[in-house]
Amino acid sequence: MGLVTYKQLAEHNNSGSCWIAVGGTVYDVTQFIHTHPGGAKIILKEAGKDATSAFEAVHSVELLPRFDETVKPVGTLDKSSERLDSNDSSTAEADAAALRRAGMPSLGSVLNSFDFEAIARQTMKPEAWAYYSSGAEDEITLRENHAAFHRIALKPRVLVNVSHIDTSTTFLKQTRVSLPVYITACALGKLGHPDGETVLTRAAGARNVVQMMPTLASCSLDDMLNARVDSQDTWFQLYVNADRNVTRDVVLKAEARGCKGLFVTVDAPQLGRREKDMRLKYQEDISDIIVKTGGDEEGESSTSTGQKKVNRAMGAARAISSFIDPSLSWKDIEWLQTVTRMPIVLKGVQTGADAVQAAKLGLAGVVVSNHGGRQLDTCRSGIEILPEVVADLKRAGLHGKMEIYVDGGFRRGSDVFKAIALGATGVGIGRPSLYAMSTFGQEGVERLLDIFREELEMVMGLMGCTKISDITEDMVDASHLSTRVSLVRDMLHQTVYEPLQPPQFNRSSKL
Ligand SMILES: Cc1cc2nc3c(=O)[nH]c(=O)nc-3n(C[C@H](O)[C@H](O)[C@H](O)COP(=O)(O)O)c2cc1C
Repeated sequence: MGLVTYKQLAEHNNSGSCWIAVGGTVYDVTQFIHTHPGGAKIILKEAGKDATSAFEAVHSVELLPRFDETVKPVGTLDKSSERLDSNDSSTAEADAAALRRAGMPSLGSVLNSFDFEAIARQTMKPEAWAYYSSGAEDEITLRENHAAFHRIALKPRVLVNVSHIDTSTTFLKQTRVSLPVYITACALGKLGHPDGETVLTRAAGARNVVQMMPTLASCSLDDMLNARVDSQDTWFQLYVNADRNVTRDVVLKAEARGCKGLFVTVDAPQLGRREKDMRLKYQEDISDIIVKTGGDEEGESSTSTGQKKVNRAMGAARAISSFIDPSLSWKDIEWLQTVTRMPIVLKGVQTGADAVQAAKLGLAGVVVSNHGGRQLDTCRSGIEILPEVVADLKRAGLHGKMEIYVDGGFRRGSDVFKAIALGATGVGIGRPSLYAMSTFGQEGVERLLDIFREELEMVMGLMGCTKISDITEDMVDASHLSTRVSLVRDMLHQTVYEPLQPPQFNRSSKL
């Protein structure tokens, strides 16, 4: 490959001939702009430029050549050649970020997981905030994930010696962790922090908790795995690709590099409508409506020219949906059992019946989860489904044959306590870890985990428990869990919850 000067690069700055430089290599992406899952406009903004920082804000640099066979390297960027454009967009973004963070509260002032969310809402880039915070449709399930905990009352025992409290436990029969809490898989970590998911890896290592590494991470799997401390166990979250060879390769790689569990996401055969995310993208990218594509996002229809009409302006979530295969079925789970020796856990189970089926297959576990309220709106919260899963497994004689994990709305140590009491082995934390990462980086995530530990220790002490196995079902009253009415006004959560907005008038447009 020869050298390409900045001047030569700048000559290919449009949809007819589009080159970009990423990580020192110049690529011809003229064809790829039409199939880019995030839409053409975002690439055309960088056409003819060194797009490394824009690209790295979302992806791993390694990803580009593998993205699509139409992406062709054309040469090495000659960095000694005369620069034609200064990268104005990244300077402007840095200024805007500094403005958003001006006067931001210190980490010391953060008392609970909601505080990270309140600060993130003010300081994160609006697109990133929209992607992380949004739930599906009316966000009934998103809010229910939190509200359900109010319907479980604690029944403390007294006069127990609680001078020493141990919150440690074991996951998947092999990993000793300091807390019954893990950092769950969330896509696109670099939207919140330039180092992306590796921030979570390091914090998890520092606090001896498990991180579930996402398929759709912004960092490569290698980056995340290389960020581990020596003895750190991690899990891998799998979105099954339509090309099963791609899936086999990634699973074998995760296993070869020491991942200790394969969490197969089963609640996303298609993506939910996350309207906060869609609304924001819609306002920004209104002109980018029709592109030629082989993609399969919702919102597409064929035109007479054979082009597909796709609403690309559907937010970050829609942009990644084409990586997920809607044909996934129980047969594929059996196939995965032949591919890997890693314990397999289904992530996104929402009924006792499906948990029983998973146990019958001999799987290592299920995560009772509704994907953080981002998929099917008005479905039940994980904590509400948990007793049904336990009861059905007991009825089928399969209770204890596999582990039960749960996620969705866990914000307090008492929430974790309630899940353990109702039969969970561990609890996944999603958004709070993203908000802690986006606001205070690794230190923030470590503090978040410390807060969960401090709160759990306090609740255990007040409940008369000195170790996780002391936490039992008779310590909670969950008799109203399925009533779904909460009479208590919930101030802290209400303060940080941001309602979905209708479309705004543009009063500045001329009549
Ligand atoms: C921004 C974001 C991205 C997510 N990405 C994924 C993903 O790639 N794969 C997956 O299985 N779950 C994903 N989830 C769901 C989480 O793993 C988890 O189920 C959920 O966030 C738990 O709810 P919580 O955010 O209230 O803690 C994502 C959640 C969020 C908020």
